[in-house]
Amino acid sequence: MKENSIIVGLDIGTTKITTVIGEIAPGGTLDIIGQGSVPSEGMKRGSVVNLERATHAIRQSVAAAERVSGVKVGSVFVSVAGNHAKAITSHGLAAIRRNQEIAQPDVDRAIENARAVPLDPNLEIIHTLPQEYVVDGQEGIKSPVGMHGVRLEVDVHIVAGTAGPLLNLRRCVQEAGLKVDGFVLHALASGLATLEALEQTQTVIVIDMGGGTTDVGVFKRGNLAHSASIPIGGEHVTADLAQILKIPIEEAENVKRKYGAALPELADQDLTLEITTASGSTHAISAFELSRIIKPRIAEIYGMIRDEIDQALGPVELVAQTVVITGGASQLRGSAELARDRFRLPVRVGRPRGIGGLSDIVSSPAHAASVGLVLYGIGEDGKVPDMIFEGMDTGQQGTPAPVSAGNGTLVTAPVAAPVPSNDGGPVIPPAKPDPTALPKKDKPSFGERIKNIFKDWV
Ligand SMILES: Nc1ncnc2c1ncn2[C@@H]1O[C@H](COP(=O)(O)OP(=O)(O)OP(=O)(O)O)[C@@H](O)[C@H]1O
Ligand SMILES: [Mg+2]
Repeated sequence: MKENSIIVGLDIGTTKITTVIGEIAPGGTLDIIGQGSVPSEGMKRGSVVNLERATHAIRQSVAAAERVSGVKVGSVFVSVAGNHAKAITSHGLAAIRRNQEIAQPDVDRAIENARAVPLDPNLEIIHTLPQEYVVDGQEGIKSPVGMHGVRLEVDVHIVAGTAGPLLNLRRCVQEAGLKVDGFVLHALASGLATLEALEQTQTVIVIDMGGGTTDVGVFKRGNLAHSASIPIGGEHVTADLAQILKIPIEEAENVKRKYGAALPELADQDLTLEITTASGSTHAISAFELSRIIKPRIAEIYGMIRDEIDQALGPVELVAQTVVITGGASQLRGSAELARDRFRLPVRVGRPRGIGGLSDIVSSPAHAASVGLVLYGIGEDGKVPDMIFEGMDTGQQGTPAPVSAGNGTLVTAPVAAPVPSNDGGPVIPPAKPDPTALPKKDKPSFGERIKNIFKDWV
């Protein structure tokens, strides 16, 4: 872990560009000492579409954070939207000499072997994330160094970014006078900032709903094991409202934030809005009707995530124990309730946690990724830094998790156990045993793994 150092995250989003400056205090805690957020320019769905404008907005965002902190920023960790990344899980093996303890070079060799997969020349590896280790068939080992065995195996999640979009991002950051410390997958950053201690022992789906994209990460016992990106976000909801109500985008955005809900039942039932269209005519619409326009878009996003996870890992409710929604669009009233309905799992809204200093200025779910970039910079190993959970209550398995309804109120979600939910909702099925805990013979064969690898790369 870096000591007494400054780490800066630069989240270049579709809606906003945010810089967060973190300082590791002498006691080992992370203090937020600066933040700057400006409306995004020159970006579309995580891609740079106008170098000059994006560079200009990056400069402004960094300058704003510098003013708050009094620190001059030299280098930054930069987020990469999932639609510019491809990920595979590859298996690595290292033989250990008889009667010798496993040493770090053996671990490195196993990881290196897992990395030796043919890569499209158009891709650049941004993360090599070892999952748990297997020593002589014994699974679930977090740190094999010092153990005895003759066969060390590891599954490694490899995330690679498409070269073109990465080069454009790098160019803008450099033009803004900064060095790139590293690229970080958006979904990984969001998970690092929001996962709670108990969730580090579960399989959790982290959904970062941004403006132009929704980034998804599946974390198994704290390790990013699968990622995906849906090219739809909160801006699409706003565009739907603007088109259907025939009002300007800015007004639609306002109406959405103030009166919108992802579930019509949660909209203010007594509220009717007077809408003036672009052509000057006026009409009335109830908050209930407004939310009926919004719901299908959010349901579409959740549906696409379900399909993606079903295909890659199996039925969502059997694969995971919890869903964490975060990102700016997760603040829409009712998003957590609709997610709970669609995924049939406990859902909560995730906010950056475990940080000190000016933590209130980055407490919104919209800042999960930017804070996560700083947390990533501490260890650069894709794991939540230990200090986050130091002194925190790790909670009890099966304790009802509070669910933020996205509007500041807390409701209690059903526990991940086979009991009927407390609102007469669906019965939550028991969680499937974690595949990583199955005996070796039930795991896919080497041939099947290779086939799966190639399936993902094409
Ligand atoms: N209170 C709110 N209620 C509803 N939606 C909101 C609220 N606040 C922000 N949003 C929506 O969140 C979206 C922006 O989210 P966020 O700031 O996470 O985007 P981003 O990181 O810039 O985008 P991306 O990650 O897609 O590149 C916008 O569509 C905005 O309308
Ligand atoms: Mg974002």
